[in-house]
Amino acid sequence: MNFENILIAQNENSATITINRPTKLNALNKNTISELHEAFKLLENDKTVKVIIITGSGEKAFVAGADISEFADFSVEEGTELARKGQQILFDFVQNLSTPVIAAVNGFALGGGLELAMAAHFRVASSNAKMGLPEVSLGVIPGYGGTQRLPQLVGKGKAMEMIMTAAMISAEEAKQYGLVNYVVEQDELLPLCEKLAGKIIRNSSVAISAAIKAVNANYTNCINGYSVEIEQFGVSFGTDDFKEGTTAFLEKRKPNF
Ligand code: COA
Repeated sequence: MNFENILIAQNENSATITINRPTKLNALNKNTISELHEAFKLLENDKTVKVIIITGSGEKAFVAGADISEFADFSVEEGTELARKGQQILFDFVQNLSTPVIAAVNGFALGGGLELAMAAHFRVASSNAKMGLPEVSLGVIPGYGGTQRLPQLVGKGKAMEMIMTAAMISAEEAKQYGLVNYVVEQDELLPLCEKLAGKIIRNSSVAISAAIKAVNANYTNCINGYSVEIEQFGVSFGTDDFKEGTTAFLEKRKPNF
């Protein structure tokens, strides 16, 4: 598949999607959002891909937000549709992928950029990264899940402060807040993500998918996460991976999933 605004690289069992609009600081225009949807769908359906890393091209930005030039003259209806469709095809889609997604935040992650990083299953940042939800400075609010996922990750008070001040936080602050798991120098960012991917790949991808479902259930309205956990725990017992994992343990060998 040919993409205009993204690049995909595959490395054994992991794939890296790079958003590639560096002159616009990788801002998410409509086309990029559609392409990201297609790319995530493609990689999700490729069973050789066990981890997806998402990052931005250039040294300055992960993603500097939704493309402001595209929505500056939108009506109420168009604004509603922008958020609804974006959440559906990209942000919720990424959160609910059964393949683990790591965001490698390599610079500015603002607005829709931070929202994309937050939709990923976890985040790693380079030391130059700056994160924030500046939407209220534009007279709008975060519309790609930011008002929901930021409080989930950093707590309500810090999220309120970040949203109301529209201020950026540093990578170190983001780590203290629990928004990113690690901060490393820029040239170590992708190697660290690959290393984490390597640890994930050794485990059962079937079980990991079930765990993603159970963890996400806690953040889904009207769904009881404990019940989903019980169900997914039970389902695991019927999988080949469970047989292989437990047999390998008892035979004192490494599992071959
Ligand atoms: N939408 C559209 N274009 C964007 C953009 C966005 N969210 N963020 C950056 N760009 C474009 C700039 O317009 C500029 O394009 P140009 O060279 O054609 O004029 C280019 O990317 C480089 O950005 P620039 O502002 O010159 O870089 P900077 O280093 O001076 O500032 C930022 C970097 C991130 C502080 C600044 O670009 C910014 O504030 N961006 C908007 C952030 C935002 O509000 N995001 C939330 C959107 S809802």
